[in-house]
Amino acid sequence: MEEERGAQAQLWKHIYGFADSLTLKCAIDLGIADIIHKHGGPMTLQELASALPIPTVNIDHFYRIMRYLVHMKLFNLIIDGEKKYTLTPASKLLLKDQDKSLASFALLQYYEMGAWNYLSAAVEGKTTPWEKFHGVSYRDYFEKDKKANQLLSDAMTSHTSMVTAALVRGCQSSGILDGVRSLIDVGGSTGVAARAIAKAFPYIKCAVFDLPHVIATAPECAEVERIKGDMFASIPKTDVVFMKSVLHDWDDEDCIKILKKCKEAIPENGKLVIVDIVMDVQSTYEFTGARLGMEMDMLITVGGKERSEEEWRKLIETAGYSRYKITPIVAIESIIEVFP
Ligand SMILES: C[S@@+](CC[C@H](N)C(=O)[O-])C[C@H]1O[C@@H](n2cnc3c(N)ncnc32)[C@H](O)[C@@H]1O
Repeated sequence: MEEERGAQAQLWKHIYGFADSLTLKCAIDLGIADIIHKHGGPMTLQELASALPIPTVNIDHFYRIMRYLVHMKLFNLIIDGEKKYTLTPASKLLLKDQDKSLASFALLQYYEMGAWNYLSAAVEGKTTPWEKFHGVSYRDYFEKDKKANQLLSDAMTSHTSMVTAALVRGCQSSGILDGVRSLIDVGGSTGVAARAIAKAFPYIKCAVFDLPHVIATAPECAEVERIKGDMFASIPKTDVVFMKSVLHDWDDEDCIKILKKCKEAIPENGKLVIVDIVMDVQSTYEFTGARLGMEMDMLITVGGKERSEEEWRKLIETAGYSRYKITPIVAIESIIEVFP
C-alpha cells in the first residue's frame, strides 16, 4: 500500500508538473511579486486584487491561483490581523528592474514550450525538436524574428546578470583574474558579463565579441570595447578568453573548433575562463534538477548539451590544453579555468 501510494503521488506530481510552470507564468504575467514589493508590506487578497493590471477580477479564481502559488512557496500567507500575502526569497527573484531576476528567463521558456512536444524527434536524432516544430533552426528563427530575439536577449541578460554577481564573487575569492590585463567575452551578447567584470576589476581592459547583428544591439560603454566577429574564424589576442553559456550551445565537434580558436588567442601564461554547467546527475544537490532541465533545453532547441566533468576533460584535452580547474559558484553554472 505504501509503495502504491508513493507511486501514485510521484506520477501525479509529474502529470501536473506543467501546472507549477504555468502558474508561475501567471504570477509573472500579473506582476504579483512587483505589486507586493511596491506596496512595501503584506497585502490582503482584496488589496492584491485591486492592484492587478486587469479591469475585473474574479476573486474566487484569484484566491485559488494564490493558494497554488503559496503551495509552491512563491508567496507566504501570514496572519497579520487578517490573512495577508508576503514575498518569499524565490518570488524576490521574480521582481523586474533588478539585477537578480529570473522572470525574463522564465518567459522565454514558455515561448519555447511548443518544441517540447516534439522531444521524441531528438531520439531519432535527424533534427532538433525545435526544427521539427518550427521548420527552421533555433538560430535562424531568432535571427529573423526581432520580437522573439528581444525576448531571448532579455532572458540571457537577466540570467547572466544573476550569474555574474556569483561569478565576480567567485573570481574575487579564488583570485581567478589576478594579474590579468585584458579579457574578451566571446559570444558575450550585449556585454552584461563584460561590463560587470570591467566594473569589479577596473585594471582589466575588457571587450565583448559577438556576431555583427548581436554587437549592433550592445549598448555603448566606455569601459568595454565592442568587437564584431565570428569565433569559428578568429578571436583577437587577449590574456583571457571568457565564455559564458556558449559551449553548451554546440556539439563536441564544434566545441573543439571553438576551443582551438580560443587557444590561438591567448598567450602561454593566459587562460580560458568558461562559465557553464558541470552536470552532476548522481547528486541530490539542489541545482541538479535545474541543470538537467537546461540540458534538455539544449537538446530541444539548439542541439547542444550540458557536460559532466569527464566530458569537459575530454573536450579540453582534445583541443590541446594542458589542464583545467573547476570552481563551483552560487549558480547552476561553475567556473572552468582552462590553461594552454
Ligand atoms: C547562449 S548565448 C550566451 C550569451 C552570453 N554569453 C550570456 O551568457 O549571456 C550564445 C552567444 O553566442 C553568440 N554566437 C553564436 N555564434 C557565434 C559566432 N560564430 N561567433 C561569435 N559569437 C557567436 C550568440 O550570438 C550569443 O550571443
